[in-house]
Amino acid sequence: MKTTINKLSEHVGKTVKIGAWLSNKRSSGKIAFLQLRDGSGFVQGVVVKSEVGDEIFAKAKGLTQESSLYVTGTVKEDERSALGVELEVTDVEVLHQAVDYPITPKEHGTEFLMDHRHLWIRSKRQHAILKIRNEIIHAVNEFFYNNDFAKVDPPILTGSSAEGTTSLFHTKYFEEDAYLSQSGQLYMEAAAMALGKVYSFGPTFRAEKSKTRRHLIEFWMIEPEMAFVEHEESLEIQEQFISHIVQSVIKRCENELKTLGRDISKLENVKAPFPRVSYDDAIKMLKEKGFDDIDWGDDFGAPHETAIAESFDKPVFITNYPKDIKAFYMKPDPNREDVVLCADLIAPEGYGEIIGGSQRIDDLALMEQRYEEHGLTDDAYKWYLELRKYGSVPHSGFGLGLERTVAWISGAEHVRETIPFPRLLNRLYP
Ligand code: 4AD
Repeated sequence: MKTTINKLSEHVGKTVKIGAWLSNKRSSGKIAFLQLRDGSGFVQGVVVKSEVGDEIFAKAKGLTQESSLYVTGTVKEDERSALGVELEVTDVEVLHQAVDYPITPKEHGTEFLMDHRHLWIRSKRQHAILKIRNEIIHAVNEFFYNNDFAKVDPPILTGSSAEGTTSLFHTKYFEEDAYLSQSGQLYMEAAAMALGKVYSFGPTFRAEKSKTRRHLIEFWMIEPEMAFVEHEESLEIQEQFISHIVQSVIKRCENELKTLGRDISKLENVKAPFPRVSYDDAIKMLKEKGFDDIDWGDDFGAPHETAIAESFDKPVFITNYPKDIKAFYMKPDPNREDVVLCADLIAPEGYGEIIGGSQRIDDLALMEQRYEEHGLTDDAYKWYLELRKYGSVPHSGFGLGLERTVAWISGAEHVRETIPFPRLLNRLYP
């Protein structure tokens, strides 16, 4: 019977056949231990010479790392293994013998591993991170489906920018200039006026010259937008959303989190509600912690975010930033014109900002004033103003960065491990 490694425990005592690669091997004169992987999981195959005979044993012993195989064997219970089983091998068919696989069990430098990313993703650690990424993607779609959001796909090739012009990726659209999307938000606002509650989930491009563990040039962003939803209600949705993602990963990726050595106790209490700190109070907290490099009106850098997050064991919202350091579309606080109704959600343990969101300006005259102030006078933004002209409503939205979320939940040091083929400041290959 043909099966996969993740289903082996359903076949205890039976003889099964799996397609697999050899990730590692140990052998003596009488017994060989094959570490097998097939994408669905990892399992140990045990080949006993006295059981299989000289020919099959010699074949097993001669296998090289990453050779591809069909392995037949009997499934045995084994409490020590992650899946609770091992395979007592009775036959091995070599499909392809790999020669000199470059990534050996010894330590390799990061650049070497990044150059071999197409092979590195086969390793147990990278496999676990990509499985967690997959689970997060599933949990995102599940949350929005269960809460009546429609998935809408904004364009990737755009004529205008949502998040300032400094990080735009320039390209050509025949004779015209075009840009790769740095946020789908403006389109999602239009979609919310058509479908009510919407979200997008797509590639996002930022030509950022930042070489940090949190920045990618190409990343995936989830951008919900909700008509008739004001700032505070949006924060409640965000905390429910993040709780759902974290709790789903804990439930469904137990083995992967174990492989990564993730301290699950740090994730278990990630349940709504999350603390909220105003920007004003965040500045006070930083001053108390001895930061003299920051004053009211400055944006936070990574060390500031980390210092604020350290005071909490859950993600924390920093709310109501000064209007001058935030995007043109954010609605001013009705009680205070100098700050806007926005929040960044900062993950614990130094993983930084994972969500940026706000209530949007819904008043036509005020939006026109912002256009003036930001010099958005060309026709590219005209359509966006019309959303305030025909049935304008209060509405809010936010953007969650997928890779930073994967890094935080899986405990990965750097976002380069959280996307299959990272695009970084100096990396376009493989
Ligand atoms: O705070 P940002 O720039 O928000 C927006 O783009 C809004 N238009 C979203 C919205 O309201 N619809 O980005 C949102 C999130 C950040 O919190 C971060 O998680 C992620 O996107 N992000 C990055 N992730 C990896 N590499 C980068 N260079 C990133 N820039 C932003």
